[in-house]
Amino acid sequence: MSEAQTKMAIRLVIAADHGGVRLKKELTAKLIGAGYSVEDIGTHDENAVDYPDFAHQVAEGIANGRWERGILVCGTGVGMAIAANRHREVRAVNCSDTFSARFSRSHNNSNVLSLGERVVGFGLAWDIVEIWLATPHSDDARHTRRVAKIEP
Ligand code: RB5
Repeated sequence: MSEAQTKMAIRLVIAADHGGVRLKKELTAKLIGAGYSVEDIGTHDENAVDYPDFAHQVAEGIANGRWERGILVCGTGVGMAIAANRHREVRAVNCSDTFSARFSRSHNNSNVLSLGERVVGFGLAWDIVEIWLATPHSDDARHTRRVAKIEP
C-alpha cells in the first residue's frame, strides 16, 4: 500500500468540546491537507458543551469498530481521556509531547489521542498527531502481552 493509501485507509474520527474546538478545526484542516480522511463529529462552535458526551461517542465508535483511531481535544485533554478510557478496548492517551505519543503507539497500542488546546500550541499538537498516526504498534511479544493484560 502506498503512503497515501495507508493514510486514507485509517478510519479516523476527531471531536472536541468548546475548550478544544479551535485546535480541532486547525488539526482537521491539516489532516485533510496531509491526505488523511477524518470524520469531524463536533462540537463546531465555542458554545459550552460537556466533554464526556463527545468522548463517549468517540470511544463507543472505537469499541464497536466504526472507527479505528480517534483524536479528542478539550482544554487540558484530561477529561476527554478519563471518559474515553471507561470503554472496553479503548486506550486513550493524553499527550503533550512527541516522545509519549510515539511510545503510546509502539508500546501501548493507544487508539485515542487526547490533546489540550490550553496546554499545547498548534505546532506541537500537529507534530504529536503526525507521529501518533504514523507510528505502528510494536509486534514485539512483550508489548502485545502487556496490552492484552490491560482489559480488566
Ligand atoms: C472546559 O472548561 C474544560 O473543563 C474542558 O475543556 C477540559 O479541559 C476538561 O478536562
